[in-house]
Amino acid sequence: MDAPPSPTAPITNIHGRKPGRGIRPWLLIPKVLCFATLLGGLIAALGIAMSARPDDPASAQQAARTIAVIVHWTIIPGGAGAFLFGLLLLLQHPAVFLRLRWLQLKLVLLPALILLHLYTRHLNKSLPDHPATPGNLTSLRGMLLAAVLLTALIIFLGRHKPRLTQNWAKDFPTPASSRRP
Ligand code: HEM
Repeated sequence: MDAPPSPTAPITNIHGRKPGRGIRPWLLIPKVLCFATLLGGLIAALGIAMSARPDDPASAQQAARTIAVIVHWTIIPGGAGAFLFGLLLLLQHPAVFLRLRWLQLKLVLLPALILLHLYTRHLNKSLPDHPATPGNLTSLRGMLLAAVLLTALIIFLGRHKPRLTQNWAKDFPTPASSRRP
């Protein structure tokens, strides 16, 4: 058996990694703020939709106007920022990230979130112009709840990075690890 390395021995970089932590922490900080803003905005919009009274058109219309402000100032900037900083993170190591299943699943779910956003915006826009019916208020609540759950799932995938049956070390061995006995 080899003797343990001496604590004072110089450390050799056998993996060929660049020194330092790079730009990743600086991209992750705004990314965290952006997805927190996105999820927070969606939850606030859902809370307002839940507080509107279906039997009172004026209350539903007021809720729709407030939700439109939240969409404009928090949901869209938060979502666009999470997207932009995600893209910048991906560009650090595109070949590595693009073969990870958690990221592939995340990228498949994102168009669903965008479609949900467009449909919810359409529903919300129609509320102040037309008499609010219990039906369209219920649809708006349902869509906002679906958007909250989908965003939470995307955040879980990004933060937890589940393997989803992938074995990174076995499937993608590095030259350095394959040299070891
Ligand atoms: C609504 C949109 C998005 C949400 C809510 C979201 C959420 C997240 C979360 C929670 C993380 C974990 C951050 C951490 O480790 O603290 C993450 C990481 C990441 N995201 Fe996203 N993301 C979104 C869009 C995107 C897009 C569009 C891309 C790529 C084109 C992307 C690429 C990445 C990458 C590569 C990481 C890993 C960063 C790393 O660990 O080095 N994301 N995302």
